[in-house]
Amino acid sequence: MLSCDILIRNARMIDGSGSAPQRADVSVSGGCIGEIAATLDCAAAETIDAGGLVLAPGFVDVHTHDDIAVIRKPAMLPKLSQGVTTVIVGNCGISASPVTLRGELPDPMNLLGRAEDFRYPDFAAYVAAIREAQPAINVAALIGHTALRSNHMDRLDRSATEAEIAAMRLQLEEALQGGALGLSSGLAYLSANAATTEEVISLAQPLAAAGAVYTTHMRMETEKILDAMCEAFEIGSMSHVPVIISHLKCAGIDNWGRGSEVLQALESAQKSQPTGCDCYPYAAGSSTLDLGQVDERVTIAITSSTPHPEVAGQTLAQIADTWNLSQLEAARRLQPAGAIYHSISEADMRKILSHPATMIGSDGLPNDPRPHPRLWGTFPRVLGHYCRDEKLFTLPKAVHKMTGMPAQRFGLAGRGLIRCGYAADLVLFDPETILDMATFSDPIRPARGIAAVWVNGVLSYTVEGATGKRAGRFLPRGKTAWIQ
Ligand code: ZN
Ligand code: CU
Repeated sequence: MLSCDILIRNARMIDGSGSAPQRADVSVSGGCIGEIAATLDCAAAETIDAGGLVLAPGFVDVHTHDDIAVIRKPAMLPKLSQGVTTVIVGNCGISASPVTLRGELPDPMNLLGRAEDFRYPDFAAYVAAIREAQPAINVAALIGHTALRSNHMDRLDRSATEAEIAAMRLQLEEALQGGALGLSSGLAYLSANAATTEEVISLAQPLAAAGAVYTTHMRMETEKILDAMCEAFEIGSMSHVPVIISHLKCAGIDNWGRGSEVLQALESAQKSQPTGCDCYPYAAGSSTLDLGQVDERVTIAITSSTPHPEVAGQTLAQIADTWNLSQLEAARRLQPAGAIYHSISEADMRKILSHPATMIGSDGLPNDPRPHPRLWGTFPRVLGHYCRDEKLFTLPKAVHKMTGMPAQRFGLAGRGLIRCGYAADLVLFDPETILDMATFSDPIRPARGIAAVWVNGVLSYTVEGATGKRAGRFLPRGKTAWIQ
């Protein structure tokens, strides 16, 4: 008889490819998936009866700001408790490395941590820090355009010069050689908004040869969203690089109802270039408090404020009322601050979430004292609320959006599918009970319905909580594949 480390028997396997569930036994040896068969006989050090629960590849959170969290809070409970086994960090133009601060931490890099947390002048130092911290989940990383700008520019309210672009490009190339997945931008933020399209195109040039991707928090997500999408696709086509639009949404009340129009633009780009997007399953966004987004028709909740930490959890309207100020003036006095904007249309979000080009990314902010519930709830919410209860898509499709599809697009080699020889990143969950528990009023709550999570073959989470074993690794870029 064969032998193996772990035998998971009697599972309803959803393999991450999008294909239908199958009854299966799965063996794990040396951190990798071994045999998969209807019934397996193997002498296992440990046997688990799945009792018909769903066994899926561990989820990949494609859009995170966990750059520093994976090092400072390596238990990574907000993600592990959802069945997430890999996070992609470095989104929205901001990354923990390569960073050499020249002064104050520019907004929104402060979402990642405090100035003293930025200790990685090159990508190799960041990778070494991950290895040393031994997070509970795997980490793959993008390089932020804004981070590069802040390294080489005296001020960020202008476009970069040729020499500055060359210096940024050198740092990007070095990171790509070290296994970075690609470049991210956050053109909507003031720290990158003055960058021209040409600046990004010249910076994106080395991505093609490396087989890397470009992800973008677009320049505009409201009225001019189509122009911003055009810019993103132009950057991709000029530099021959796949484009992933981050947290695609129709933001701002005047923009509601445009989901189909936006998805049509995405589909027409898909005809000529590899293009996709990610989305979080909520009708509210969250970031630093942006005066440009203060709109009295929209409920804005304050998640943190440096000068007024006591107001966290209150709405901007309540605060403005108490202070007897306009919301805009109150927002000014709260700066720097974090906010949740209830400014997304639920109907548009459902359309985008259901689209076959869409992956799942939480965009969770791990340092917020009162975070948006997406930090703890995104994946179970897609599987429980939107898949099972609202029937937006089938369970194999939902799982594919958070496993096989992201692994292929970002080049996470040997991940994202249940296949012989693939890494044993696995999650066992109950499709009947899985649900997010985190809410806007009570946002720090683990989901229910996650029975077990293995990371690289190590049992890391059970119904009892984290096992305390941390088996995550840094994942260097592999070969990408686009099926669209
Ligand atoms: Zn963003
Ligand atoms: Cu983001």
